[in-house]
Amino acid sequence: MELKEKLDKIRQSFNEKIEKVENLEDLEKIRIEFFGKKSEVIEVAKNIKNFSESEKPLAGKYINELKNELLEIFENKKNNIDENKKDIQNDLFDISVSGKKFAIGNLHPITKVMREVVEIFERLGFGIAEGPDIESDYYNFTALNFPEEHPARDMQDTFFLDAFDKDNNKPFLLRTHTSPVQIRFMNEHSPPFQIISPGSVYRCDSDVSHSPMFHQVEGLAIGENITFANLKWVLIEFIHKMFGIDIKARFRPSFFPFTEPSVEVDMSCVICSGKGCRICKNTGWLEILGAGMVHTNVLNNVGYDIDKMQGFAFGMGIERIAMIKYQVNDIRLFFENDIRFLKQF
Ligand code: PHE
Repeated sequence: MELKEKLDKIRQSFNEKIEKVENLEDLEKIRIEFFGKKSEVIEVAKNIKNFSESEKPLAGKYINELKNELLEIFENKKNNIDENKKDIQNDLFDISVSGKKFAIGNLHPITKVMREVVEIFERLGFGIAEGPDIESDYYNFTALNFPEEHPARDMQDTFFLDAFDKDNNKPFLLRTHTSPVQIRFMNEHSPPFQIISPGSVYRCDSDVSHSPMFHQVEGLAIGENITFANLKWVLIEFIHKMFGIDIKARFRPSFFPFTEPSVEVDMSCVICSGKGCRICKNTGWLEILGAGMVHTNVLNNVGYDIDKMQGFAFGMGIERIAMIKYQVNDIRLFFENDIRFLKQF
């Protein structure tokens, strides 16, 4: 039938054209072409009057079917274009705008160094123990073998709190070092063990190299056969891992109430390699930590058998290590949190 062929041609042409439509203007052209008064479909419909009476109903049916089919495709297309337009109008996205850059922060240098130190000791087999920032005189001083009249208990160094500790008949205080965690841990555990204890400590002091709050990492290893040689190996290993294999270590005799013998450990200056410069005050050495064999009085205070158990302890300041590592000459820069400073790490 000639009519059917005509309708198929219209359908094909419509489908080809509507496929390429991307905006409402082009769609409007299609509407006029296929559904307007002068459209081919209308022309064909007008021709129905020339068909025989028996053919007329079928011809009408075919034309209506095509019309409905094309209208449905047309409406779908229109809805699609409307949706896209709505998104753009509602600012859901504007494909012409360049992407927004988000400022990505970084870890505070003290956090970074703290994590690095902790990781080095974890790899050497040390566990982690923690204690409270608010301490009693007993854990911070007495149990650590500080004599009653020791200057470190003085008001000038220690922040004493208003809260009174009835058990000790003394005020509570902010711990001045992480060493009280040694006592707390030993009270709760039996040797052998090796632990570190990272945390904040407080001293009433402030200048280029002192801050009223700073961070320490304490170390403690107790067992039947733990010697000063083990302490030396662990600390030299730490220095090499932290600052490089070329760095030398030096152990100087020193004094702490809770260790005997006691040492202070220096490392060769990272700036001048030991030749002498401003950073090491021309000595070629930088002091980085205190250490020693745990004092028998301390072992007695936690009820250990001093004929069997012995061990070492060490303590280091994280800010000091960070200052050496990043060559920062004023400790206060770590706490002012000036974004221009922090951004550099
Ligand atoms: N607690 C000491 C300090 O704060 C450091 C230290 C810890 C020394 C353990 C010896 C052993 O200076």
